[in-house]
Amino acid sequence: MKKLQQIYEGKAKKVFATDDPDVVLVDYKDDATAFNGLKKGTITGKGVINNRVTNFLMQMLEKNGIPTHYIEEISDRETLVKKVDIVPLEVIVRNIAAGSLSKRLGVPEGTKLKKTVIEYCYKNDDLGDPMVNEYHIAAMGWATEEEVKLIAGYSLKINKLLSSFLKQSNIELIDFKLEFGKTSDGTIVLADEISPDTCRFWDSKTHEKLDKDRFRRDLGGVEDAYQEILKRLMGE
Ligand code: TMP
Repeated sequence: MKKLQQIYEGKAKKVFATDDPDVVLVDYKDDATAFNGLKKGTITGKGVINNRVTNFLMQMLEKNGIPTHYIEEISDRETLVKKVDIVPLEVIVRNIAAGSLSKRLGVPEGTKLKKTVIEYCYKNDDLGDPMVNEYHIAAMGWATEEEVKLIAGYSLKINKLLSSFLKQSNIELIDFKLEFGKTSDGTIVLADEISPDTCRFWDSKTHEKLDKDRFRRDLGGVEDAYQEILKRLMGE
């Protein structure tokens, strides 16, 4: 498959066309941003780690019945994925209170939630990705009610699969963000990434943060945390 022209550059990845119109190539960068791009930096080696961790977890999910965009890892930083139209939503799944939920509702970080929470944010940097509900999504036509049901069902199943998978590596899945896309035949598939950039991972015993919060909150040891996740999941 040939890598052709760049079609998009996001905050953490570049996307290139290929000679197959249904396939694109994702190239992971070391660039890191937080707070809607206000804070900028570099996390050395992050692109390689996020590429490998995402592909590893997507393959595990695919084996367990979740359709994903993943096709093939072709280098340390590059992966072929199905070309999709991204549903313009960030789907956030929460098991334990942290981050913006803790802030908004005044719940201490680390509080176990009585029920898994799903939140939707409209993907729009200019508006700061505002939180929306199912009514907004249908009213604005970002997805149909059936599609939202499917997406919510997948998200809860992904939460179960990921939580128990990560537990075996002594990683507690606090919360995470997913994105879905539609392939050319209209199938909804999991897209984007699943990595320390997009999940909160805490050590199961010490509750040490092993994710991008180390960068967001200037906690130090950012690269080591990403490396630790790669090591625990893939043994290297
Ligand atoms: P939050 O607590 O800041 O709303 O974040 C919830 C989860 O979503 C957390 O695991 C980090 C992830 N996330 C992203 O992947 N991208 C984002 O832009 C934001 C704000 C959060």
